Amino acid sequence: GYLAASANLSGAQPQPAAQPESALTILYGSQTGNSRSVAQQLAEAAEAQGREVALISMAEYKPKRLKEERQLLVVVSTHGEGEPPDDAIALHKFLFSSRAPKLDGVHYGVLALGDSSYDHFCHTGREFDARLAELGGTRLLERTDCDVDFEDAAEAWIAQALRKLADLAPAAAEAAAPTQTAAASSYSRSNPFRATLLASQKITGRGSIKDTRHVELSLEQSGLSYQPGDALGVWMDNDPALVAQILAATDLRGDEPVQIKETSVPLSQALQQTFELTLLHPALVKGWAELAGSAELAQIADDGDALKTFILSHQLLDLAKRYPAKPDAEALVGLLRKLTPRLYSIASSQAEVEEEVHLTVALVEEERDGEPRLGTVSGAFARRLQEGDEVRVYVEPNHNFRLPDSADTPVIMIGPGTGVAPFRAFMQQRDAQGAEGENWLFFGNPTFTDDFLYQVEWQGYVKSGLLDRISLAFSRDQEHKIYVQDRIRESGADLYQWLERGAHLYLCGDAERMAVDVESALIEVVTEHGRKSREQAEAYLEALRSSKRYQKDVY
Ligand code: 2AM
Repeated sequence: GYLAASANLSGAQPQPAAQPESALTILYGSQTGNSRSVAQQLAEAAEAQGREVALISMAEYKPKRLKEERQLLVVVSTHGEGEPPDDAIALHKFLFSSRAPKLDGVHYGVLALGDSSYDHFCHTGREFDARLAELGGTRLLERTDCDVDFEDAAEAWIAQALRKLADLAPAAAEAAAPTQTAAASSYSRSNPFRATLLASQKITGRGSIKDTRHVELSLEQSGLSYQPGDALGVWMDNDPALVAQILAATDLRGDEPVQIKETSVPLSQALQQTFELTLLHPALVKGWAELAGSAELAQIADDGDALKTFILSHQLLDLAKRYPAKPDAEALVGLLRKLTPRLYSIASSQAEVEEEVHLTVALVEEERDGEPRLGTVSGAFARRLQEGDEVRVYVEPNHNFRLPDSADTPVIMIGPGTGVAPFRAFMQQRDAQGAEGENWLFFGNPTFTDDFLYQVEWQGYVKSGLLDRISLAFSRDQEHKIYVQDRIRESGADLYQWLERGAHLYLCGDAERMAVDVESALIEVVTEHGRKSREQAEAYLEALRSSKRYQKDVY
């Protein structure tokens, strides 16, 4: 069964050399966990068909095994600018190297996950699909490229894959009874737990340019558990007031029926519960330009860079107000993607908070014509929800962001802004463990007075000796900007020594600018203090990455 096979995740079991004709291998490469959960869904469905299934993370897969596969299904997402997710890097590299084997006799299929807001949509899945064919594999079914609201498309692909498999190689056994339950809790992305909101407190000061909240939720009675480094998925309905504004701007009443799968629901309900309203995507902007007959919007939609910028700072309501159009209800929802949960790095350790989970949530906020435009989840936490309200959540494990196995290993944590969240979890955990390893935190935000998130807690940890060093970069407290990467450069000699002593390095926060700049600073530090060439310094960081001593959680 796949559950037994998934023991391979730990690398503990030897992998069999020869595969029976009906055996199915499912490989996944996942950054945020979506591919993993779809792969698991696929494994469960295939096993229910009576098929022997091995469900394996690409990170744990022995590439030499490829040529022994008979049926191979791949679920892989695309990360960043068309790159494979961390889990998939090694296998991806192997496949495109000269060591890649001939794959005659392998039937395969690829399900690609991605985000159509980015260039290189589903690029990694496309690459796997094309390369497996090039190596001689036979395509069992056409690839599907899923957008962020992947559920329906993934479900359809799974059903088709199972039909093709049944035609090709009937399952050996009758449907096997599930051998054991996978986890203590059955709550998941598709079946979230209704957690009670215990607190939502603004932790930035009155003078801050930001509204950042400390949120506490109760997991009591859920059986959910998490590790420091994991994320919490949060589902949230849209704000009814926003729905009303969109209806008014489009001259729709809200009681028009729209079809969602097999049922017909009123438009207002569909907008509130089912469709994404606060994030735009390229097809929506293009479609809206046509609906509105707007040459200006069409021009934006046709210019990649302009479109990217536009999407980041506008919502559906802005389209409806600036480029008036009168779509009918079906045409409107036809342009929209399904609502998706938002992932937040968990800011607490259960060793400290037991059946609670804490988040650090920055309000996503734009002002447009004197009106606020808020993010769906952050807006609800900041403006709409009351203590005692229910919030639908699930735990998204992140095996690529973990404290070292040994409590004696030093850690360096770089987490400006809300990027500090998982490091609060790390410190709570190490405090509860009485961990002896040294800890060094880099934190940055606009001002000391208004934006020193969790100041009292860090000061407590410094006092108790848990936190050996804290390096602060308050960007707007002086004439010129000071960022965490400046502190990294200033302390380069020590930082390099920590790394040489075996420290693990963690980076969390903004991916677009911060993570790129911090990485340059790290390369500079290794170049200078390790007396290396640039290439050697990059290789040094790469070696840290591949040995899991350098881990990133950037968004
Ligand atoms: P700024 O807004 O004053 O420019 C958290 O958002 C902190 O990250 C803020 O202090 C912000 O500074 C800072 N920041 C902005 N751009 C950054 C970058 N490229 N690298 C590191 N920090 C950055």
